[in-house]
Order: sequence, then C-alpha cells, then structure tokens
Amino acid sequence: MAAALRFCLLLSALFVAGGAFAAPADLVEQGRRIYTEGISVSGQPLQASRDGGAILSGPQAACIGCHRASGMGSVEGSQPVSPIGQRYLFATVGDLVMANMDGRRGKTLNQTHAPYTDEGLAMALRQGVGISGRSLSTVMPHFVLDEQDLAAIKAYLQQLSAGYSPGVSKEVIRFATVITPDVSEARRAVFKTMLQSALTAKNSSTSPRKRYMSSAASFATQTERRWDVQVWELTGEAQTWGAQLEAHYREWPVFALLSGISDTTWAPVDAFCAAQKVPCWFPSVAVPTSGNAAYGMYFSRGVALDAAVLASYLQDASAETAPKRLLQVQVQGSGSAELAARSFGQSLMAKDRTVQTITVDSDAVKGRNELIKALQAAHPGDAMALWLSAEQLRWLDGIQPPAGVQFYASASLAQLGSPQWIAPSWKPVLQVVYPYALPQERQANLAYLHSWLKLRNIPLVDEVLQSELFFSLNLMTDTLQDMLDNLYRDYLIERTEDMLGRREAGKVEQENRDRLTLGRLGRAAVLAEAVNGSAVGDAANPLAAQQRAFGLGESGGTTVYPHLSLGPTQRFASRGAYIVRFAAGNIDTLAAQSEWIVP
Ligand code: HEC
Repeated sequence: MAAALRFCLLLSALFVAGGAFAAPADLVEQGRRIYTEGISVSGQPLQASRDGGAILSGPQAACIGCHRASGMGSVEGSQPVSPIGQRYLFATVGDLVMANMDGRRGKTLNQTHAPYTDEGLAMALRQGVGISGRSLSTVMPHFVLDEQDLAAIKAYLQQLSAGYSPGVSKEVIRFATVITPDVSEARRAVFKTMLQSALTAKNSSTSPRKRYMSSAASFATQTERRWDVQVWELTGEAQTWGAQLEAHYREWPVFALLSGISDTTWAPVDAFCAAQKVPCWFPSVAVPTSGNAAYGMYFSRGVALDAAVLASYLQDASAETAPKRLLQVQVQGSGSAELAARSFGQSLMAKDRTVQTITVDSDAVKGRNELIKALQAAHPGDAMALWLSAEQLRWLDGIQPPAGVQFYASASLAQLGSPQWIAPSWKPVLQVVYPYALPQERQANLAYLHSWLKLRNIPLVDEVLQSELFFSLNLMTDTLQDMLDNLYRDYLIERTEDMLGRREAGKVEQENRDRLTLGRLGRAAVLAEAVNGSAVGDAANPLAAQQRAFGLGESGGTTVYPHLSLGPTQRFASRGAYIVRFAAGNIDTLAAQSEWIVP
C-alpha cells in the first residue's frame, strides 16, 4: 500500500515537472483563460454568435458567465444551463452525477448523456449539437475555436470540479468556526452552546437510518454527510491571526468556515478565506472585511454600512434639522472605529461635506476624560457620531449630554441590536444606526429560533448573535441538501447567491402557514404581546389577528434582518439600516426616526 502510494506520488511529480508532460498545465491555464476571461489561446478575444446573429466577444462570450465558476451551470430565464464539469461531461453512465437545476420549481435534474468525446465537444461548441445529436438551446452560443482552443478548453473542463473540494469525503464534511479573542465570555459561551446543540441534533439525524434532515433527493443519492466542526479560538494580536488560521488549516483542511464570531475585526479571517478559497459562511461580525469579500458571505457590511447610512441620513435631512457641523469621535487603535470613521468621511466626501474627527485614548480613564472634552467641542446644531464599542459606550455614564447636539452611535459596533444597557441620561438623546428589523417587528421572524432555544433550555443572551448563528447553520443544511453530491466551494457560493432571496420568501410563507394550521402562537405571540401590548386572540379572523400580533405586514424574513437576499457576486445579504431612538424608559422598544435607508 505504502509502496503504491509512493509510486503514484512519483508519477504525479513527473507529470508536473517532466518536459514532455508539461503541456497539460499550460493547456489548463489556456483553457482557464477561455473559460473565465474569454481570451483565446492566440491571445485574441473569444468570438461567438448567438441566435444566428448577435456577436459575442471576449468576456461576454466567456463560459463562466453562464456555466459559472464551478461549471455547475445555472438557470438563464427559464432555460437551464447544463453542468459541464468533469463529472458531467466525461463521466460514463455508471458514474453519472445529478444536479438540481432549478431551485424555483422543485427538483429538476440535469439531462443525462453519453460521455463527451473530442468530436462531440467540438460539435457542441462550434455548432450547438449535443453529444446525443440533440440541437442545444440557442442560449448556448456557437463559438469560433481552432484546434488549440479546443484542446485547451477540454483540458480545463477535464479538471473542473473533478473531485470534492478539500474538507469533504463520502461520509463527512469538515468545517471550522472561528472565534476572535476579543469576544466576551457571555457571547462566546452561548455561541458554543448553540453550536454544540445544533451539531448533536444534526449528526444524530444523519447516522444510518435516522435521516431526519435529509430530502428525498439527497436520500436517493446518498449525499447526507456527518458534520465535523472544529472551534478555532484565535489568540493575541490581529496581525497574528492569519498565521494561526493557516496552521489550523494545514492540520484540518475544511470545506468552509461555518459561522464565527468577532467583536472587533474579521478582516484577517476574510483575507485567509480569500487566499485559501474557503467560504467564510455568515459569521456574526461587526467588521467583516476591509476590502471586497471574495469568499466571504456576510449578513451586512457592519460598521461600514452603518457609517454610510448615517452619512445618507444626515445629507438628506431637511433644512430645519440639517446639522451645522459634523463631528465624529473614534478611539485610538480600534480598527472598527477607524473603519467607521473612514467610511463616514468618505461617504460624506462623496456628498461634498466634511467631518471633523476627534481621536480619544483607548484607556478607560484617559479615554473618558478626552471624551468629555470632545463633547464640549460640540455646539448646539452640530451632529456628532460616537464610534464607540459596547464597552466604551459605558464611559458616557455620569456625563450630561450637551443640549442641542444630535448624537449617533452604530448598533453594529456597540452591539445595540439587542441592547443591554444605556446610560440613563443618554437614553433620550442617543440615536442609533440600526441595521436590523425593529425588535417589535421581528418577533414573527424569530418565532422558530425562540422555540428552538426554549426546547433546549438555552437562554436568550444576544438576539442578533443567536439569530445569525441559527440562520447560518440552517442555511448551510438547506444549501448542502440542494447541492446533492456536488460539494464544490464555488458552487456553495453560487447556489447561495441564486437562492437566498427565494429561500427567505419560501420559508416565510411556509412558517406563516404552519403557524396558522397548527394554531399555536408559541413564544412569538407572547413576546409580541409583551412588546406591543396587543391582544392576540381573534377567533373570527385568526390570520388577521396573527398578522397584527406578529406585525407580519411589515416583516418578511427569518432573522433579525428585515430581508436577506443576494445576487451574482454580491456578498452582503442585507444592505440598509434604520435610524432609531430608544423609547423612553424601555430599552427594548425602539422608535424609528427614518425609513429603511439603503445608502
Ligand atoms: C450565454 C450562455 C452560455 C455561454 C456563454 C456558454 N454556454 Fe454552454 N450552454 C448554455 C446552455 C443554456 C446550455 C444548455 C443547452 C441545452 O441543454 O439545450 C449549454 C450547454 C453546453 C454544453 C452541452 C452540455 C450537455 O449537457 O450536453 C457544453 C459542452 C457547453 N455548454 C460548453 C460551453 C463552453 C465550453 C462554453 C465557453 C466556451 C460555454 N458553454 C458557454 C449556455 C451557455
């Protein structure tokens, strides 16, 4: 066995390094350029025609536009775009794989066909005739390809999604969840408890003959797998996290990072995901990335979104409420506050306004003194953004807010999605950029979460965090089920881009129906009643009563966000926020000061 393995390794080394075998690597690269960039082997733009007329050239003609990075295809209008990875084009009938083509109408599986030959591929690409002689849909262009191009594209397709991504075997999918060192003990604990509880349930249901969570299709194709999840708890300074992640990853290659939690910055984790092409799957974070997420899928842009929303709000303010001067306070060395301040400044600059930035020390005593001075610098008619964390917001205790100044905080940065405490003198004046559905609005969305927690005796510690984790786990379960045995990371991302919005709509509809037919109002109603002070029962019109109680008219999601959706290449599922105030005396009741603002 060991000898055979060495022999294989030797052969593959020869294959890569040996002169006579070197062509394939080049060919694959040439094929990649055709597939993803629309550049022929000659270096000229790829040419194609469609519908007998329209000429496509270069990137417009690139295969990736329709067949996607994974080669798993998509749906164009109502036309399924076939999967064309190795396991689809070249597999013999016995090894055929199945793909769910169109998530909108139940299970539509891909067409099967004989394995593609060189001639067959040439016919399909040049003349639009499939391997079995069938004319392909006119959506598939006819390409101008010479022999070299054909050899290159074939070499590329032969290795495209040819095996599972790292972290996947026939029985198991490996994940890791990352916790950065700044996360408070309470949040860390409830996060781990929920994760553990969900995994236990998941894995006991995927053990043989207990396929509680599996769909008919995944059952038929035997694609249910156990999840092995490691918790990677990072330590030390943020600049060392990348190396820690790499070390973990070498020991334990994972398919994806499943959820995760950070109170400061997630940017080093996002960078790791981009470098390793590992999906960063909906973690609970305030600063997901400092650039453009490549392999990260996030709830929102976090503090950068909050800053942009605030800039928009202030800019659009009517003449009477428009602030005279804009000021912002950031804390020295806080990456999150600096990012917020930078984003705020940039958003304002785009609107021809400037902001004066005051930086205070990060030490609690010194910082608080400097904050007092900063507050004195604000005059009536000014607006001041306080980019403070939950901890730093406590510095305001005992300080009297100066009169006539508008003050704003970021809910992402200060964890005000489910606020714990606000200094009493600030409650009436502090306004908050709030990228969530209002608490009184979202109870219906969270009914399932609340009963899930109750059933397991897990406390509600942080509604935003717990809702995000719950969603992240459930969405992974559902998406993997849809993917059947096609466990490629790019496909995970593509599938989510295409399906997230539809899945939300479908779930909301189903949950509303369930509630109605089951006739149980559950915890959601109790909470809704507590918040709204409304009576729930209405025998004559149960649906209307429930809609009133849950505020279903306005909300329509499954999380603390009003609505989640994505599109191709989008990475942030929620893209707006409210400006809110605390209703006097009750920290859980928020009064919206604005519509939902999408900057
Ligand atoms: C504008 C969209 C579009 C582009 C660009 C495109 N395709 Fe297609 N392709 C399709 C559609 C749609 C089908 C399915 C046609 C059908 O089943 O009738 C298809 C089918 C195919 C098939 C036949 C698969 C089968 O199941 O028999 C192959 C092979 C193929 N494409 C390869 C490519 C390659 C390689 C490129 C790039 C050089 C490419 N396609 C670019 C839309 C596209």
